[in-house]
Amino acid sequence: LIIRVLGSAAGGGVPQWNCNYRISRKARQGRGEVRPRLQSSIAAQGANGHGWVLFNASPDIRQQINETAALQPDAGAELRSSPIAAVVLTNADVDHLAGLLSLRERQAFQLYATNRVLAVLEANPIFRVLDPAHVRRIALPMEEDVALEGPAGPLGITIRLYPVPGKVALFMETGDAAADFEADGGDTVGVRIDGGDGVVHYVPGCARVDDALRDRVRGAAALLFDGTVFTDAEMAEAGVGVKTGRRMGHVPITGDGGSVEAFEGLDLKQKIYIHINNTNPILEEGSQERRRVTDAGWGVAEDGMELTV
Ligand code: MLT
Ligand code: MN
Repeated sequence: LIIRVLGSAAGGGVPQWNCNYRISRKARQGRGEVRPRLQSSIAAQGANGHGWVLFNASPDIRQQINETAALQPDAGAELRSSPIAAVVLTNADVDHLAGLLSLRERQAFQLYATNRVLAVLEANPIFRVLDPAHVRRIALPMEEDVALEGPAGPLGITIRLYPVPGKVALFMETGDAAADFEADGGDTVGVRIDGGDGVVHYVPGCARVDDALRDRVRGAAALLFDGTVFTDAEMAEAGVGVKTGRRMGHVPITGDGGSVEAFEGLDLKQKIYIHINNTNPILEEGSQERRRVTDAGWGVAEDGMELTV
């Protein structure tokens, strides 16, 4: 199983177009203090080498494909061709859906998501640009192993979705907390990705680390986990917003219930923060906060990073 990080930033990316905070400024300066990062997505290829699966379709997908030779048409392939055989969505956030609109050129692939996320696509007619004659939408059950297929057959990757604490997509919020937050779970999912020789968990959004999640990831080859904010109040403290991390559906890295502590002692071979917001000081290469997470055994995802398990 090969996992390639296409976008390690949260929605907005690093730098974010309208952000003048220190971290976006450093990313624009290009002196290596903060590496630029695209928005949230990974790609996976099974051991049989038959095509790639994208987990989430980032608004930056066009650039991600242009920067990744393995995702481009093979020199010997047909005039219209793509190694991208399937797309799996973990929620309906803009940073995970918008890239679908850039895959509308009548190319066959399978689109996998929960019924909840597929309903968002149905309700927004702009997604009809993905012609059902080419793009099959497949409902994924929760808590069941599913062998992924592309238009040409099995991809050698089995996934299992599981609900994690979270909320509906920001643009779907109604203001009714009972309906917006963990109403009956399943608005946001984690994915267990099994390529036969090892298991990787991909959880780019998660509001709380509970015992069920800890038990589930125990012993995995890698955990790619929600690194949106370092502290819960970070956005307000940076002066760029009012919401806490948890209010946005993202557990902070540190503080009470923070993810560094919550995932200690679980025999995880690799722990990597991904979906990192442009206010998070772990993005600053020399920062104390970066050192805090690396000392605790975590890596910080970068675009182009590859894991082989
Ligand atoms: C999130 O991860 O909280 C969302 O991507 C926010 C957004 O939709 O901008
Ligand atoms: Mn997001």
